[in-house]
Amino acid sequence: MAASTTDVTLAIDGGTPVRTTRWPAYDNGDAYVADEDIDAAVRALRSRRYFRYDTRPHEATETGAFEAELCRYFGTGHALGCASGTTALALGLLALDLPAGSDVICPTFTFAATPSAILLAGHRPVLVECDDELQLDPADLHRTLAAGARAIVVVHMRGFAADMPALTAIADQYGVPVVEDAVPALGVRLAGRPLGTWGRAGAFSTQSDKALNTGEGGFLLTDDATLHARALVYSGAYESRMARHFTDPPELDDLSLPLYSWRMDEIRAALAHAQLARLPGRLEAHRRNYDRVAAALADRSDIAVRQPVAPGAYLGEALLLRLPDAPTACWFARALRAEGIGVRAFGDPNDVNVRAFWNWRFLHPDPAAARAAFPASTSAVARTVDIPLSANLTEEDCAQLVDAVDKVAAALPGRR
Ligand SMILES: Cc1ncc(COP(=O)(O)O)c(C=O)c1O
Repeated sequence: MAASTTDVTLAIDGGTPVRTTRWPAYDNGDAYVADEDIDAAVRALRSRRYFRYDTRPHEATETGAFEAELCRYFGTGHALGCASGTTALALGLLALDLPAGSDVICPTFTFAATPSAILLAGHRPVLVECDDELQLDPADLHRTLAAGARAIVVVHMRGFAADMPALTAIADQYGVPVVEDAVPALGVRLAGRPLGTWGRAGAFSTQSDKALNTGEGGFLLTDDATLHARALVYSGAYESRMARHFTDPPELDDLSLPLYSWRMDEIRAALAHAQLARLPGRLEAHRRNYDRVAAALADRSDIAVRQPVAPGAYLGEALLLRLPDAPTACWFARALRAEGIGVRAFGDPNDVNVRAFWNWRFLHPDPAAARAAFPASTSAVARTVDIPLSANLTEEDCAQLVDAVDKVAAALPGRR
């Protein structure tokens, strides 16, 4: 039985939890998928044509139609369906045609896939500090660019827009391109412009945790026809298939680049296309849930709700709360989990999180040295807890989240 709000004994101390049903999340079966999405995937299955390139006209293929719709939705010149968000990002970076082994900037606060994509593209990830709001620190960005970095990957992490006007102005000052990792922020706008369309290219994922869910998948957006053509060839548009994507194809020897086979298939494209039609409804649901919870938790002492760079510049698929220090954040997450809320502290040593940069041993083998090299990011990341907010949350789910936070927060002074 769920506790009433007057039951103040924490579940972590043996009290009754605020909720006993599972917190909805993609990995326990929560999905925003309708019958028409499933019908679209079945239609593609029944066609028995699963590879995107065949004798049909380009626009008659599921993938071609999905890409055309992406261009309309985002207002971009070109879209390329691909195998994942990581490969979309790697394609964007490869297509920049930087010298092999270039330094490419990556924020400390991101998913391990971002530096992985930089490595996949043959470059060297160079981390840049983040501030308390987990946004790129402009001073450290300037320092890294002055030291010779050739490109910036900006990440809209956990659905919160990065400050694109400021960051693109800095990039322009140094003459380096920006590629957006917009994977966590599909459908979010900043100053009326969709994230993923601010830089030279924008990468998105359609993995199950994202606002379009095809299990695995992704896409790359750009207005740059040459970049698109290069990305197409790398993705595996061989034997002149690249040209099918253009009315006026750019000159490019399609055997001058390697082929990595990072294409999207027809079944995923059909599923994603159907979901894209319903994306506005999903975005509204995220926004409604997020605003309800964030407003209710706006003025708690010791708990800071992550602030967006501009009003409304967030997806609402994740609620990030900053606690006074790292041990308190770990305890807070543990206590909240006991109350029935799906929550993780990014810095919990007992719950290793791939969003904590010091855990990326493929980049830096010594976590302590990584933390010492980026003290501001370490402090901000380690004090933050992360609560996924499904589009399917009910009013009751949201109220229970607020109750649980308040219940655990009331116990904080004695635990610190
Ligand atoms: C910021 C970020 N970039 C890239 C990715 C990788 O996307 P995918 O899993 O589709 O490769 C993720 C995955 O969650 C992510 O959060």
